[in-house]
Amino acid sequence: MHFIESLNKRYASKQMNGKKVSPEKVTTILESIRLAPTSLGLQPFKVLVVESQELKDKIFEKAAQGQPQIPNSSQVLVFACYKSITTEILDEYTQRIVTQRPTLPLAKVTAYRQMIDKSLNRPDKENFNWAARQAYIALGFALTAAAVEQVDSVPIEGYNPAALDELLGLEDKNLGSVCMMAIGYRDEATDYNATLPKVRKNKTELFDFL
Ligand SMILES: Cc1cc2nc3c(=O)[nH]c(=O)nc-3n(C[C@H](O)[C@H](O)[C@H](O)COP(=O)(O)O)c2cc1C
Repeated sequence: MHFIESLNKRYASKQMNGKKVSPEKVTTILESIRLAPTSLGLQPFKVLVVESQELKDKIFEKAAQGQPQIPNSSQVLVFACYKSITTEILDEYTQRIVTQRPTLPLAKVTAYRQMIDKSLNRPDKENFNWAARQAYIALGFALTAAAVEQVDSVPIEGYNPAALDELLGLEDKNLGSVCMMAIGYRDEATDYNATLPKVRKNKTELFDFL
């Protein structure tokens, strides 16, 4: 399927049917998240892949009431960012660069690390908001990957982050959730969104060519 056709076909599913997404397709969607670019390359977030029905039901009950997609989805991806970007996190990243780019001169790695330390030397809250923007880029990649794989999905911001974080014990892991994405397959009979036309700005409204 042509790329733009896939994007036209994707939509925010409002009701799913409980059918499982194949492991291959889940892997592709997760790999798109892993390969998404992030500022400084830091990937300042984790993605929790909720597969357990019990946990999906709990999320629905305790943190995301009114989001009917969750219980009948195949997986719920929770994008969670670091509450504090610790020295340990930065050390791990620096080590990852050294391991994965073995030909890079150590002096360059050191200079890069100093630049990162300087950039992130600001309140945790600012770093968290910055990390959330990085997570949203990954969310965009995942939504696109799902569309290409013809898997239905919905990004979910409309939930109670404090309740979700408590349920998943995120605070103890130095994490705070910023958004979710449910993947699965639409319920043809009840997903009213499936047949609605898209509402979008037209090209002249959206783009200014300078
Ligand atoms: C970051 C983000 C958060 C969203 N949160 C929700 C949500 O909580 N619940 C929901 O049903 N749809 C949610 N949506 C879906 C949007 O309403 C939807 O993408 C938009 O109306 C465009 O429609 P389409 O995706 O069907 O083309 C969200 C979309 C984005 C990008």
